[in-house]
Amino acid sequence: MRKTVGWHAVDAATLQRAPVLRRALRPDDIAVRVDYCGVCGTDLHAVRGYRGERDPVLVPGHEFTGVVTEVGREVAGFDIGDPVAVGNIVDSCGECGMCRAGQENFCGDFPTLTYGGTDRRDGSATLGAYSREYLVRDRFAYHLPDGLDPAGAAPLLCAGITVWEPLCALGVGPGTRVAVVGLGGLGHLAVKLSVALGADTAVVSRTQNKAADAHRLGAREVLVSTDAAEMSAARDRFDVVIDTISVPHDLGPYLRLVALDGTLSQVGYLGPVTVQTTDLLIGRKRLGSAGSGGRPATTALLDFCARHDITADVEVLPSGRVNEALDRLERNDVRYRFVLDLSDLD
Ligand SMILES: NC(=O)c1ccc[n+]([C@@H]2O[C@H](COP(=O)([O-])OP(=O)(O)OC[C@H]3O[C@@H](n4cnc5c(N)ncnc54)[C@H](OP(=O)(O)O)[C@@H]3O)[C@@H](O)[C@H]2O)c1
Ligand SMILES: [Zn+2]
Ligand SMILES: [Zn+2]
Repeated sequence: MRKTVGWHAVDAATLQRAPVLRRALRPDDIAVRVDYCGVCGTDLHAVRGYRGERDPVLVPGHEFTGVVTEVGREVAGFDIGDPVAVGNIVDSCGECGMCRAGQENFCGDFPTLTYGGTDRRDGSATLGAYSREYLVRDRFAYHLPDGLDPAGAAPLLCAGITVWEPLCALGVGPGTRVAVVGLGGLGHLAVKLSVALGADTAVVSRTQNKAADAHRLGAREVLVSTDAAEMSAARDRFDVVIDTISVPHDLGPYLRLVALDGTLSQVGYLGPVTVQTTDLLIGRKRLGSAGSGGRPATTALLDFCARHDITADVEVLPSGRVNEALDRLERNDVRYRFVLDLSDLD
């Protein structure tokens, strides 16, 4: 075993610094010194749902960048010192139809999650990247392109890829009318990516408070979801609506924004939702979802972001302030992603 250090949940309110034990380096592993790890809404759900010792050890963190410090003897694509990025999937079966299609995120045998998952080979629980070192199978690490700031790039690996795949799959490009619902970690990257793809992009937010930011990010307009008249005027107007709201909610108001034959892609809240069939029927609307990304799409996203100079808008905090970051994320007090700097763990 290798020993590093990281941030463990001790209860639903607190992460505490403690040793993290990792496997010995395998032939197809690389060891990564984690420099920056984004704080995702999913991390907040995981910590707030943590029931102490009744649950397995929880070390969150699944969008990170760092530097390769060691390579297994079969690793060909990475060298010590390479800047790399890793997202929320660290293994898959490699053989099912989804894996063969490059959609390892939908592996029929379920992909191995970066934390809260089970390692396919030794059955151990995976522990995330709120930690100074992470060991990852080489196939699931990505070269960080030159020119991308490593702190701002970390959130591309979960928040970014989660919105990138549906934008691409739905054919978003010049002329597409896109609305992004919820301007948070996922939402602000959805706006940047949609705008860079050439789409006519709007933001739907609960208040006008983020309107100036939305315009700075490239949105043409901001709709206030609590303003019934504004929402009603925007009915049937968007080919693609990307819903990143992090709490349970009725999809009706957002389906009504979708244009004829358009799609609402719900990527934020992943649980039971209410849908009136007539909200789909009127306008032949489609409802979909997506999450994370396969290896080809992740590589394409990083390449696209390097070409278009896209990174997340981040507030970097020393990892010792992780509890404050989670509290503020919960209060919606971040513009638009916290990133932990793990160097204070040395
Ligand atoms: N599909 C996947 O694989 C995947 C991957 C990553 C994350 N997620 C999930 O995506 C969700 C968003 O994550 P995130 O990191 O972007 O979170 P976030 O930064 O907190 O953003 C969520 C946004 O939702 C809106 N919102 C929050 N509370 C709301 C409420 N009560 N009613 C209506 N809108 C509300 C807010 O936007 P406004 O202030 O603009 O209204 C907020 O900025 C989380 O649930 C996370 O677990 C899913
Ligand atoms: Zn995430
Ligand atoms: Zn598979």
